[in-house]
Amino acid sequence: MKCGVIGLGYVGLPLAVEIANAGFEVIGIDVDKDKVDKVNRGRSYIEDVPHNALARVVKKGRLRATTDFDVLTELDAISICVPTPLRKTKDPDISFILDAVSEISKRLRKGQIIVLESTTYPGTTDEMLLPELSQSGLRVGKDFYLAFSPERVDPGNKVYRTKGTPKIIGGITPQCTRKATAYYKKIFDKVVPVSSTKCAEMVKLLENTFRSVNIGLVNEVALMCDRLDLDVWEVIDAAATKPFGFMAFYPGPGLGGHCIPIDPHYLSWKLKTLNYYAKFIELAGDINANMPAYVVNKIISALNRVEKPLKNARIIIVGAAYKKNVGDLRESPALDVIELLHREGAHIEYNDPYVSEIREAGLELRSRPLTAKSLKMADCVVIITNHDSYDYEFICRHARLIIDTRNATKNIRTRTPIVKL
Ligand SMILES: NC(=O)c1ccc[n+]([C@@H]2O[C@H](COP(=O)([O-])OP(=O)(O)OC[C@H]3O[C@@H](n4cnc5c(N)ncnc54)[C@H](O)[C@@H]3O)[C@@H](O)[C@H]2O)c1
Repeated sequence: MKCGVIGLGYVGLPLAVEIANAGFEVIGIDVDKDKVDKVNRGRSYIEDVPHNALARVVKKGRLRATTDFDVLTELDAISICVPTPLRKTKDPDISFILDAVSEISKRLRKGQIIVLESTTYPGTTDEMLLPELSQSGLRVGKDFYLAFSPERVDPGNKVYRTKGTPKIIGGITPQCTRKATAYYKKIFDKVVPVSSTKCAEMVKLLENTFRSVNIGLVNEVALMCDRLDLDVWEVIDAAATKPFGFMAFYPGPGLGGHCIPIDPHYLSWKLKTLNYYAKFIELAGDINANMPAYVVNKIISALNRVEKPLKNARIIIVGAAYKKNVGDLRESPALDVIELLHREGAHIEYNDPYVSEIREAGLELRSRPLTAKSLKMADCVVIITNHDSYDYEFICRHARLIIDTRNATKNIRTRTPIVKL
């Protein structure tokens, strides 16, 4: 079989490499020429794909990339991994999927397997992709096979990588499910078929809504503990000793990444079209979206205690990526915190070993080293992302005031005042 992956980002590139590792010939298609060139040179731009793993399959001739959609005619199976962002109004933007599918539709041929991987609302594959592909005159389940299989990539996760994470798959017809399952079984350790594309789409949204709602709950518990003058981290750690019926989630400065802040809104948007208001999703979204402002309030009151106004205060942000040990800035709460602080006239510096520069809200910042001098000069140091590589003892030794949104300074004995979430 000759296989294809459309969209070579965080999801598509690791998938393309796994398909190649399984012994298939793979062609990756992306509209971004820079990414295509890098793939063909064996240079990875995704942290989870090491250069040598990519270079190995490129050298063997198992993987190549192109911007030319005409290669679609050569392919037996095509996985679609393009972005699914939200519009400003929180409506789904599935235009990238539709663009990719229209390219496939123009060239669809008998026997092809098409698998959509991009996260989307329940019904997309059936209501949007199937009519477009059927315009070719070919019949689904007989001439071509269409399925949805949600990507479960967790960037930076060293235990669960693409191959070892079970893969859900649901086809338009039972034959579509069988064909797509047989294909993915050659690539993934475990494939879990479900009864429809809609069910597979909903599985992904349940998983991400589960995280969003639980993070929203624990963020609210942090707000409650603040009022009760309790350490929320101590409360969670103690609760987590219960061996059943409790799963620890931790508060933070807000949600980030391409999934958790976005995907649940795909579900609530779809439900609104069916006259149903998704209460948990909206409530959790509201609480999580307000965490950056809560962090800024903590900074203001901590500075207030040392008689320093926020205006002209020197603030160092430690960590900008949306989560530890990755360089992904998408939707990162650090961006919101920086914007809010900048708006109030604070002078901001940041450090992130994974993020060399930030361009946001008219600001252009470059990551600066954390030195004893820079830490001492700052009125306040705000830990947003708890990368493992940070030396928190060093930070505590030299900073004058710390706002720790991740409990990263836990167990460090210091005289420096530390304000936690
Ligand atoms: N990043 C994650 O951790 C993650 C995890 C699970 C699911 N997902 C979902 O997977 C999908 C892809 O996410 P991602 O993080 O890989 O996005 P990404 O932005 O990293 O990559 C998408 C790629 O698609 C390319 N592209 C856009 N339109 C195209 C088109 N018409 N034809 C060809 N290429 C096109 C872009 O140039 C980009 O390289 C999204 O639906 C996302 O919600 C992401």
